[in-house]
Amino acid sequence: MKNTGLNELRTMFRKFYESKGHYPMKSFSLVPNKDKSLLLINSGMAPMKPFFAGIETPPSKRVTTCQKCIRTGDIDIVGQTDRHGTFFEMMGSFSFGEYFKEQSIKWGWEFITQVLEMPEDKIWATIYLDDDEAYNIWRDVIGMPEEHIVRLGKEDNFWEIGTGPCGPCSEIYFDRGPEYGCGNPECKPGCDCDRYIEFWNHVFTQFDRQEDGSYVPLEHPNIDTGMGLERLACIMQDVTSIFDVDTIRTILDEVVRISGVPYHDGAEKTDTSIRIITDHIRSITFMVGDGVLPSNEGRGYVLRRLLRRAARHGKLLGIQGAFLASLSEKVIEVSGVAYPELEEKREYIHRILSVEEEKFSETIDQGTNILEEYLETLKKSGEKTISGEQAFKLYDTFGFPLELTQEIAGEQDVDVDVDSFNANMQRQKEMARAARKSDTDAGWADESILYAAFDATEFLGYDTLTADGTVKGIFKGRDAADVVSEGETAKVILDRTPFYGEGGGQAGDVGLIYGDSGCQAEVTATTKFRNVYVHHVTVRSGELRVDDKVSSIVIAVKRNQIARNHTATHLLHKTLREVLGNHVEQAGSSVTEHGLRFDFTHFEAVPKETLAEIENIVNEKILQFIPVTSVEMPIEEAEKTGATSLFGEKYGKLVRVVSIGDYSIEFCGGTHVSNSGQIGALRILSESGVAAGVRRIEAVTGTELIAKLNEYESLVGRAAEILKTNPSGLLSKIEAVSEEAKACKKELEEMKMQAMGGQMDQMIESAREKNGVKLITRVFEDTAINDLRKLSDEIKAEHKGVIMVFAAVNGEKVTLMVSVSDDLLEKGYHAGSMIKQIAAAAGGGGGGKADMAQAGAKDKSRLPEAFELAYSLL
Ligand code: ALA
Repeated sequence: MKNTGLNELRTMFRKFYESKGHYPMKSFSLVPNKDKSLLLINSGMAPMKPFFAGIETPPSKRVTTCQKCIRTGDIDIVGQTDRHGTFFEMMGSFSFGEYFKEQSIKWGWEFITQVLEMPEDKIWATIYLDDDEAYNIWRDVIGMPEEHIVRLGKEDNFWEIGTGPCGPCSEIYFDRGPEYGCGNPECKPGCDCDRYIEFWNHVFTQFDRQEDGSYVPLEHPNIDTGMGLERLACIMQDVTSIFDVDTIRTILDEVVRISGVPYHDGAEKTDTSIRIITDHIRSITFMVGDGVLPSNEGRGYVLRRLLRRAARHGKLLGIQGAFLASLSEKVIEVSGVAYPELEEKREYIHRILSVEEEKFSETIDQGTNILEEYLETLKKSGEKTISGEQAFKLYDTFGFPLELTQEIAGEQDVDVDVDSFNANMQRQKEMARAARKSDTDAGWADESILYAAFDATEFLGYDTLTADGTVKGIFKGRDAADVVSEGETAKVILDRTPFYGEGGGQAGDVGLIYGDSGCQAEVTATTKFRNVYVHHVTVRSGELRVDDKVSSIVIAVKRNQIARNHTATHLLHKTLREVLGNHVEQAGSSVTEHGLRFDFTHFEAVPKETLAEIENIVNEKILQFIPVTSVEMPIEEAEKTGATSLFGEKYGKLVRVVSIGDYSIEFCGGTHVSNSGQIGALRILSESGVAAGVRRIEAVTGTELIAKLNEYESLVGRAAEILKTNPSGLLSKIEAVSEEAKACKKELEEMKMQAMGGQMDQMIESAREKNGVKLITRVFEDTAINDLRKLSDEIKAEHKGVIMVFAAVNGEKVTLMVSVSDDLLEKGYHAGSMIKQIAAAAGGGGGGKADMAQAGAKDKSRLPEAFELAYSLL
C-alpha cells in the first residue's frame, strides 16, 4: 500500500472505472438542478436521481464521477474532531439498470486490493441484515472469511436520503489495527471506536421511496457506490485526521501561517478554530465557484453561515482584517486541477468572499460586544437563556446567523430561545411578504412528472416552421384527457413538433395546430419538460383528440424576432467578455420577441462610454454579415472548440454548438438567425444591478429597435410641435426658451426690488424718531425674508441712524427681522439682543448678530405690540 496523494487517488479511481466501461462525467454543480428536495448536492448519486428514476437518459448505463458534496448536518462538531467536515468529495460508480451486486462488489474488491494494494486481511464488509445474496458474494465469490462479514440493521446498511432511489447496501471497512481500538474482544465494524473505518458504500438501489414513506420497487435495480475521497486518503496516507491529508493540510498550514498560531493537533481551542476555518474555506470556495451567493435564505444562507463562522474563528485566532479571499487561493491551488471552474472563477470567488467578509467585519465587533453584554447580564441574574428578541437583533442588525449566536452563547453554557427567535423572524418575513407575490416556480417533482411517461418529442424547429405529427397526450390542468373541444384550453403533447419549447432563456414559440378532423387550435405558449414538448393550446374550432394527425405552424414573425434577439445575445455575451474581461459569465438571460435581457457577473456599473463601445462592437459584427452555424456534436469534441458553456448547466453527451463565424462559439440549444446581418442592429436600453456582483443589460434588435426609434421620433416630434418648431430646430429652441425663462425671472426680481425701493423713501419719511434713531417698522405680506434683508441693506447704504424691524408674513408663518445701521453699532445697539425681546412679544424666539438678526414668531396679531416694544427699546 503506497502513500498516495488525494489528487492521484481521484485519478486512479476514474481510470479504473473507465477501464471497466464507465463513462466519466464531470462533477455536477453543488447546486441541485431542479431538485427542490435538496439545498446542496450531498452525495454522488444526488444529481443522478433523474437517471435512476428513468426520467432522463444518462449518457451511458455505466457512469463514474467524483462529486463535490456538502453536508452540514454535523456542522456543530466540525473542528472538534479529526474526521468531520462540511465539504468532501465522493467518488462513485453507477449502473443504471445494468450490472448489479456481484459485479459491483467484484470491481470494488479489485480496485481495493489490486490498484490500491490494500492487504486483503485488513478489509471487512457489512451487509444489510437479511441480504444473503450480498453475504454469499462476499464469502463465495470474493472469498472473504465469514468473520469479516458483519450483518447490520437498517440504520447502517439501508441507504436512503429523503425521497427517491434507495436500497440495502454493503459497506467496506479498513481495519487500522488494535492500537486504534476500544479493546473489547467483540469490537468489529459497527463499533463506535476508531479501529474500523468505513470508506466505501455500495448501494443496491432497488426502491423509490415515496413522499408517504412507502417503497416502490424500481423496474431495473441499479448500483450507486460512494467512496469518501478524504477518508480513503487518510487510510492510504496512514493519518488519522482528514486535516492531515496532503491537500487539506496545505490549507491548514496556510491558516497557521497567516494567524501565527501553532497547530498542536489536539483539543486546544485554537486547534478547533484552525480546523473550522480549514474546512469551511473549502465549502465556501466551492459554493461560490458554483454560483451560490450569500443570502438570508436557502443555500445562500448556508454559505453565509459558514463564511461568518469562519470569519469569527479567524478573529478568535487574532487574524487581522479580511483573510478568506486570500485563503481561498490555497483551495484553488490544491483542487484547481480537478475542478478547473475554480481557476476560471478565481477573481469572482475572491470578490464575493471579500465583499461578504468585509460586510460582516463592519458589524462583528459591535455585535460581539453586545452579545457579551447580554451574557454578562444573564450571568448576574443567574439566567441561562438569551431571548429570541436579542438573538434576532443580533441577526437583523449585526448579521449574526442564529447558529453563530448559539455557538458563542454555548461556549458559556447559555441557550438561545429559538422558538421566540423564529417567531420574530416570521413576523419580519410576513411584513416583507405583504409587499410581494409568492414564488410559484414548479420544482423537479412537479409538472415534469406528468410527462415522464412520454417519449422525447422530436424537435424539428431548427430547420422548419411547419411539421406533421400525432397527438400523444392531452392534459387539462394536471389531469390527462382524451379530447379538448372548442373554447377549451389544454396542454397537448405531439410526437414531432416545430415549436421551440421555452428553455435556455428563450421564449417558447406560438402558432397554430390544425387537426385532420378540421380542428383549429391556437398555440399560445410552448414549454418543455426534460425532452417532452408541451403545447399550451386554446381550441378555436372543432376538437382535438389523442392519436389525431395534425399539422403545426409556428408564427414566423415572432420566431424570427426571437432568433434575432438570441443571436444578438451571443454577440453581446462575447463582446462583454472581450471588453470587460473573462470573469464575465452569463448569470441568466431572457430572449423574447420583445427584446433581450442578459444578466452577467461583474462587480460594478458599466460606464456609459464602455456600454457605447460594447454596442458599437456588436453592431459592427452585425454589419459584417457573419454566417451563423449550429452543429450537434459529442460533448468532448465541443469542449475542444473552446465553446463557452453555461456555468453549472448539465449537458448531455451530444450538445449543440452555435458559432457566429469564429467570433462567438457557445453551447446552445436555441434558435438563431443564419447570418448576423439579419439582426439588423442592436440598441442597449439599460444597464443596471440585479444582485451583488450581477449586472443586467436590456436591449432590442430588428423590428423592435425600429419600433423604439419610431417611439422616440414621435416623442421628439411632439416636443417640437409644442415648442412650435421642427425637430432639427428643437435644441436651439429649447436653449432659447430656457434663456428666456431665465431673463424673465431676473426681470421679475428687479421689478420686485424696484417696487420695494419706491417704498423706501416713504418708509424713511414715516419713521418714528427717538434719541436720534429712526425706527422703521413694517409688515410685508407674501415676501421672502431674503428680499427684506436686501431691502434693509439698501436702506442702510443710503441712510444713517436707522433701525428696521420688519415682519414677513407668509400664511401662518411670521418671520421677524431687525437690522441696525453701522453708525448705531458703536452706540451699543445690538440687533441680536433686540430681537429676542421683540420676538418674545409676538410669541416667538430667535437671535443673531449686532447688525442683523432674525426670529420666528407665532402670532401675527401681536406684531403691533412687538413694534411698540421696539420703540421703547431705543
Ligand atoms: N449514495 C451512497 C452514499 O452516499 C453511496 O453513501
